[in-house]
Amino acid sequence: MEPVSRKGTRMKVVVVGLGYVGTVTAACLASGGHDVWGVDIDPAKVDDLNRGRSPVAEPGLDAMVARAVADGALHATSSCAQALDQAEISLVCVGTPSTPRGATDLSYLRRAVAEIAAALRTAERAPGGHSVVIRSTVPPGTVDEIVAPALAEILGEAAEPTGVAMCPEFLREGCGIADFYAPPLLVAGTSDARVATSVRRLFAFLDQPVQLVDVRIAEALKYACNAFHATKVAFTNEVARLFRLLDVDSRQVMSLFCEDQVLNISPSYLRPGFAFGGSCLPKDLRSLLHLARVSGADLPLLAATLATNELTVSDVVDRVVASGARTVALFGLSFKMNTDDLRESPYVEVAERLIGKGFEVRIYDQVVNPARLVGANLRYVESKLPHLSRLLAREPADVLAGADVAIVSATSPPVLDALRARPPRRLIDLCGQLGAELEALPGYEGIGW
Ligand SMILES: NC(=O)c1ccc[n+]([C@@H]2O[C@H](COP(=O)([O-])OP(=O)(O)OC[C@H]3O[C@@H](n4cnc5c(N)ncnc54)[C@H](O)[C@@H]3O)[C@@H](O)[C@H]2O)c1
Repeated sequence: MEPVSRKGTRMKVVVVGLGYVGTVTAACLASGGHDVWGVDIDPAKVDDLNRGRSPVAEPGLDAMVARAVADGALHATSSCAQALDQAEISLVCVGTPSTPRGATDLSYLRRAVAEIAAALRTAERAPGGHSVVIRSTVPPGTVDEIVAPALAEILGEAAEPTGVAMCPEFLREGCGIADFYAPPLLVAGTSDARVATSVRRLFAFLDQPVQLVDVRIAEALKYACNAFHATKVAFTNEVARLFRLLDVDSRQVMSLFCEDQVLNISPSYLRPGFAFGGSCLPKDLRSLLHLARVSGADLPLLAATLATNELTVSDVVDRVVASGARTVALFGLSFKMNTDDLRESPYVEVAERLIGKGFEVRIYDQVVNPARLVGANLRYVESKLPHLSRLLAREPADVLAGADVAIVSATSPPVLDALRARPPRRLIDLCGQLGAELEALPGYEGIGW
């Protein structure tokens, strides 16, 4: 086969589903030098493409399709069997719409995979085998539990060597071509080394490395991204709704907001872990919600942040209750490490609730010293944990002795050393930074992983 770029080689690629994602993908791969066959059940789309027209409206796509078809690099058919002869890879780009109840309708995907498998049974196979790559957005578990078994069942003994992968698509309609060439992420979820090599070769002309991950990570990633984008839009419009009533220009506020790339537009606050707390976030959120109430604005998203934060706290308490433990070791009490600010600390909340339920709770915090607490900080903790001095231990090992479960948010060396020296039967990790050795303990569990 002839080379398509300094890094890649020409591959025969099948794109199943010629909608917004499929047509952009097919045209860009063909322009990148691959031999691309598009398949769609809609004869009008197949006809459009074969006439050199894009079946979907997307800037620049008509010209790209026309060129690729004229060059003989892009073809369309309604027959998977015709397309799959000698093909190394098929990319499934069919729709995955919502059912009336909001579930993901996987019927198009199931049908597409069944058609690929049936075609592979009779197709002339590429010497290196075939890779079925899901590009549609599908719930975690779909590739392992639906796609791979369907292929295995239909292909039977002819399954080898056919592998699967999930490569989520991140393009946006309206700038789909530019997004294809410079994707925000290029991720392949597969445990099959041969499939991973095929995907890398497919995208070699993009000059962007393919990140190899577990298939479920790749499936979940797309949902995390879209949920975050939706939340950002809803957040911005929610605060704007209130600011307008307060005679504040939200465009200026949000423009400055986006200039902060340290805390706002950054990885800060985006690591899974425990609930937020402290002397500012809960207070200021309540204040904003109060302003909204008196101004007549509804801020359901911001109101829900308090509710969902509470669920993070009650989840840990519920897990301890369900464990049958009696004695609990709590590592970390202030709202974050390296401060003794206990105001609205979610760890204080956990301790208070467990004590209220009759658990024996012992606490280690490297910084908190009850003798040095003053003012609002002291008043807060006295209202929540009046006998704090009796609960606190000087050494992490003293807290661990006899404990049935350890709840850990502190990662200071004395805490980690003590946990390694005397591993608790059950360890609930609230911070995700305890290291591989502690994560390998039989009783280890993460708060959200
Ligand atoms: N549209 C976007 O911007 C975008 C971006 C990223 C990811 N996605 C995801 O990509 C997937 C496709 O989205 P889309 O907007 O391109 O969908 P679409 O509805 O525009 O296109 C889907 C195409 O698949 C075809 N099809 C259905 N069953 C088929 C089968 N068995 N064989 C061949 N063709 C078949 C349909 O006829 C249609 O042309 C969805 O899962 C979507 O969530 C979409």
